[in-house]
Parts: sequence; structure tokens; C-alpha cells
Amino acid sequence: MNRVAFLNNKFVKFNSAKIHIEDRGLQFADSVYEVIMIFNYQLIDFEFHIKRLKYSLKELSISYFVNKNYFKEIFGKLIKKNSIKNGIIYLQITRGIQSREHAYKRKLKPTIISYTQKKKFNFPNKNYKGYKAVLFPDIRWARRDIKSTSLLPNILASTYAAKRSSYEAIFIKNNKITEASHSNVWIIKNKKIFTHPSNQDILKGITRTVLINIIKKNNFILKENYFSLNDLLRADEVFITSSGSLITPIIRIENNKISKSKIGTITKFLAIELMNFYKNQYK
Ligand code: PDD
Repeated sequence: MNRVAFLNNKFVKFNSAKIHIEDRGLQFADSVYEVIMIFNYQLIDFEFHIKRLKYSLKELSISYFVNKNYFKEIFGKLIKKNSIKNGIIYLQITRGIQSREHAYKRKLKPTIISYTQKKKFNFPNKNYKGYKAVLFPDIRWARRDIKSTSLLPNILASTYAAKRSSYEAIFIKNNKITEASHSNVWIIKNKKIFTHPSNQDILKGITRTVLINIIKKNNFILKENYFSLNDLLRADEVFITSSGSLITPIIRIENNKISKSKIGTITKFLAIELMNFYKNQYK
């Protein structure tokens, strides 16, 4: 099948989509992005992603007016043209093109890049899988709340994990767990659920936001608190969240078994609730 991408107002063949060599997204990672889940041919949590996209653009002073309806239409067409039942939409907006110089000097015309990827979800059914994670120092910049494509530390961490047959790398900063290379981290201890507060040290995940509502509805105690490496390794259950992966159980961290290397009961309960929430909302 011929994949189709979207580049600057045009649908183009995926393999021949090209950007300028002086695009600031390429040269400086002067650029923001979103990853939106596609489930049953539908866009999941679209409004939340648009809101975060606007926030990232504003924080970096990239002048681009985000027209929600325009993107809804573009994404709908990308899903159709690429026949994606389940997968993700990737959207990147760069500041634009300028003769190479660190400072941007004027209002540029942002470059808009979007395409789809097929994906199989790890849904909490009989094949639900738990994964291993490793630890990695959080060497990222101080504005992790902005969804920027400046992801070198994340890709180093993620590659480190992959080389150790692990699904994720969990970041530690001053003995505190922040998040993971491409997901938010949660622990459960004595039936209480903990996740890092949403501030500039982490990306405020959309899945995190949706799951917090589900946790509250089910009357679990939720603490948006810092937790240490010790808390992580001694947790009853650990899981991570992200768009397109939803809830992924972590059953081993380095050489430490978590919940006896089995998927924890609360993790599975929440994963089922989250899956059903989406199944009911996007029939
Ligand atoms: N990553 N933290 C980081 C560092 C992330 O990169 C992501 C998502 C999340 C979870 O956010 P959300 O629930 O909104 O997807 C947390 C995406 C999926 C990626 O970079 O591919």
C-alpha cells in the first residue's frame, strides 16, 4: 500500500516527502510535536492534544495559529488514505526555515509534518504483557513540560533500554523518579497510587490526565507526589502510560522483580477500565 503523509498543506507520497535543509526543526530541534492514538479509525483525546500543542507553541513563541477543525479534517483524511484502524498520528510543527543562525530573527513560516503509523495495542486481554525497564539519569533540559522534538537524552535512554531487552528507561533525577523516556511512571503501594506532580520536570501526559479521572471515579487514593528510587523498587506494582500504549505493566526493573514478575491486580483493573472507557467513547 502507498503511504501518504501531509506536508505544508499538501498530501504527498510518504517516501518522497522532503523538508528544506535549513529547516530549524532539522538543525536545532526548534520544533514541537504530538502523538495521537488512532483507535477504530478514530482520533483519541484529540481536544487534549490540540490544547497541549498550543501550549508547547506558546511556550516556545512559535507563531502558528492552530485551527482545530483544519487538523481534524487533515487527520481524518490521513486515517482514510492510509487505512489505519489502530495506530498513531504523528504531528510536528517546526519554527520554519531560516539561514543557519542560532537566534531566530523574524516570524517564520512553520513547517507542518504529519503522518500515520500502524500499531498493535497491548490491551488487557489474555495476551496482556508485562515488561522490563531499566534506570537512566535524567539528563534532559529543565522544560520537559514542553513537547519539543529536542529528544536526544530520551533516545539515548530508550536505546540503552532496548539494548538490554527492556521496554522503557525510567529517569532518575536527584534520587527522584521523574518519568520515562517516552511515558509517565506510576507506582502503587498499599493500594495508594503515586505519580510525579505535573510541573516543568515532566510532560503532562494526556493518558495520565484521562487515567487520573478514572482513578478518582473508582475511589482509589491518588497522590501526585514525588517518589524515590527506593519507593519504585519496593512498590507493589509499577506501570507506565502513553498515547498509543495506554497502560503498560512493568514487572522488572534492572534485576529487581516487581509484584513477583506478574501483572498487578490494580494495574490490570485500571488498564481494563481505561480500555473500556475508550471503547465506549469511540465505538
Ligand atoms: N510520548 N512523557 C514523555 C517524555 C513522553 O514522551 C510521553 C509520550 C509521555 C506520555 O504522554 P501522552 O500520554 O500524552 O502520550 C510522557 C509519545 C507517545 C512519543 O514521544 O512517542
